Amino acid sequence: MKLASLPDSRICSLRWQSILRYAAVTFIVSITLSGIFLFRRPEGFLRNTGSHYFEYFWNRTANHPIDQLISDAHTFHENLLKQRSFDLPTAAARYRERRGRHPPPGFDAWFKYATEHEAIIVESFFDRIYADIAPFWGLDARTTAERAAAWEYVVRVRNGVASGVGNTEGKVPWLQLWTSLVAEAAPWLPDVDMPINYMDESRLIVPWEDVTSLMDKERESRSVKPVEEVVTEYSGLASVDAKADDAQPYKPNWLGGSYWNLTRVACAPDSPSRNATPIENIEEPPVFPEDWDPEYSYKGYIRNFTAATDPCVQPHLRGMHGTFIEPLTMSTSQELIPLFGGCKLPVNNEILIPGAMYLTDDPFYSGGETHGPSWWKKTNGVVWRGVASGGRNKKENWFHFQRHRLIEMLNGTTVSGMEEHGTRAMTFEMPPMQKYDFPRRREATIGTWLQEFSNAGFVNLLCFPADSNCTYVRPYFSEVPSIPMKEQYKYKFMPDVDGNSFSARFRGFLLSTSLPLKATIYSEWHDDRLVPWLHFAPMDNTFQDLYAILDYFTRDRKGDVSARFIAEEGRSWGSKVLRREDMLLYVWRLLLEFARVCDEKRDMVGYIDDLRPA
Ligand SMILES: *[C@@H]1O[C@H](CO)[C@@H](O)[C@H](O)[C@H]1NC(C)=O
Ligand SMILES: *[C@@H]1O[C@H](CO)[C@@H](O)[C@H](O)[C@H]1NC(C)=O
Ligand SMILES: *[C@@H]1O[C@H](CO)[C@@H](O)[C@H](O)[C@H]1NC(C)=O
Ligand SMILES: *[C@@H]1O[C@H](CO)[C@@H](O)[C@H](O)[C@H]1NC(C)=O
Ligand SMILES: *[C@@H]1O[C@H](CO)[C@@H](O)[C@H](O)[C@H]1NC(C)=O
Repeated sequence: MKLASLPDSRICSLRWQSILRYAAVTFIVSITLSGIFLFRRPEGFLRNTGSHYFEYFWNRTANHPIDQLISDAHTFHENLLKQRSFDLPTAAARYRERRGRHPPPGFDAWFKYATEHEAIIVESFFDRIYADIAPFWGLDARTTAERAAAWEYVVRVRNGVASGVGNTEGKVPWLQLWTSLVAEAAPWLPDVDMPINYMDESRLIVPWEDVTSLMDKERESRSVKPVEEVVTEYSGLASVDAKADDAQPYKPNWLGGSYWNLTRVACAPDSPSRNATPIENIEEPPVFPEDWDPEYSYKGYIRNFTAATDPCVQPHLRGMHGTFIEPLTMSTSQELIPLFGGCKLPVNNEILIPGAMYLTDDPFYSGGETHGPSWWKKTNGVVWRGVASGGRNKKENWFHFQRHRLIEMLNGTTVSGMEEHGTRAMTFEMPPMQKYDFPRRREATIGTWLQEFSNAGFVNLLCFPADSNCTYVRPYFSEVPSIPMKEQYKYKFMPDVDGNSFSARFRGFLLSTSLPLKATIYSEWHDDRLVPWLHFAPMDNTFQDLYAILDYFTRDRKGDVSARFIAEEGRSWGSKVLRREDMLLYVWRLLLEFARVCDEKRDMVGYIDDLRPA
């Protein structure tokens, strides 16, 4: 220890220095956070403090749009928390109000577990389940049950015991991970089958017209039945099991071809992507939309993250995401069959469950036990490591891939070159100045800044064909040594973008002490419980807002305080609603619903104990 050889007085003053620094930072952060909490009455707050600093901070005319978004996010979340249910009758009443049906049988045991494990129960946190299950109300219950039971990979629950069915030899251990999660709830579950998609890619894209008619059937069938008509037990799967021995997995018509073409058929007829054909000349660099001011954004920054993941409203994504350029594998059905998976596009019809990677302790995804040092000890910089996935990148198409775009954008040498010569890069154009105007952009110093600030690169270029020696990307990228996740958490900023499917790191990033910057076209189980600009910083799928976001968080003390605030809010909220218990409760409730939609008496099946006189 070097420190030990210093004279005592010196040690003392060093300690004092760091304590003072810590105290100063804590003071500023807590004052600023209270500023954010009091923001709804900023005038009163300002009058009370009279501080010039706060005048600057909350100077409405001088405010950055992100200040407004952070403040709105906080208000939105506070209102959401007012909907929290603390007892079973309230939870059941809110269920009936929001879902238009009785809760499923077993709702009481579910709620009891939630209470015992201090889960935060807000009915809207489970909206995703109902969006995913709804179209199955339009299909025959028995057919759905039989197809679920006969699938190649199934988590099966019978008589309160869960088992994984299917040959996973030489495959990723997802079936085992999901089975062990379901096993924790199995004693309280009805007999049910959870058929699993074993591919990375999501696989069902039912055309818009078909889904809409299935959803209409659900709406027609929806009603809160009179208590005396309700059946309080599931019918069970005995008749399905009796036929199981000669059941073959149902094989819908699996399609290949252009994923974009399949996607747009699932978009509403009046959405901008519906009639946008796939890009014709793949060998030309991607075209960025001009004057792009979508409804989901506010002055250039994402406001509605859900809408921002939707390819139907962003026709340019057909040329900016590997999924739409050349996915590694493709086997897609336009028919609705029961299939569960960890992620999907908003147009897909899989039923979402938490990604299997979120259930492992593999430090590759989670960074292990340590979630990174505290904010003031972190390197003021942005870090990214990963492989050049996203699909099959080749000489003719690599510049359309999202990860290549991110890494080129974070390469200081590349950006300096662009600033010097006024050129575009292979994967991107400089964001328009009239929209993202800040000193580093105006003075053309983003490149110089990134050379210090950014540490981002591929650990494997994954080029195709593999023996091409990657000559086509070598001028633009070099392979860099990997950095373990726990070392990456020493940086303040961590962008997170899609790979072949979702990145599977988001939960780890949220639970870390760093700030995740997230862009994705995938939906996940947790979306309804996370608030952009409060728990993470959202980023557009074009990444055109990337520099401006990083600039906002690094331009002054206010930016740094905001970044730290979001990083810490995300971590503390994540540790309350993204726990294994929360994933279990999500899947548990989902399986109660799926068992009901597979039940021939489904219109009558429900939980009503709370409505009966005691
Ligand atoms: C507040 O904003 C106005 C208009 O941009 C500016 O003139 C003023 O100097 C700002 N006040 C402070 C304290 O920054
Ligand atoms: C996509 O669909 C359009 C018209 O619907 C068709 O002309 C085109 O060939 C399809 N493209 C691909 C790559 O399949
Ligand atoms: C965000 O967008 C989604 C999908 O477009 C929409 O359903 C939702 O109502 C929007 N949310 C808000 C708060 O506007
Ligand atoms: C790749 O590099 C190796 C050795 O450097 C060379 O033998 C081989 O011919 C190269 N392959 C191609 C396709 O350029
Ligand atoms: C950054 O870009 C330069 C070319 O501008 C390239 O040579 C270098 O390999 C890139 N760095 C990384 C880490 O990809």
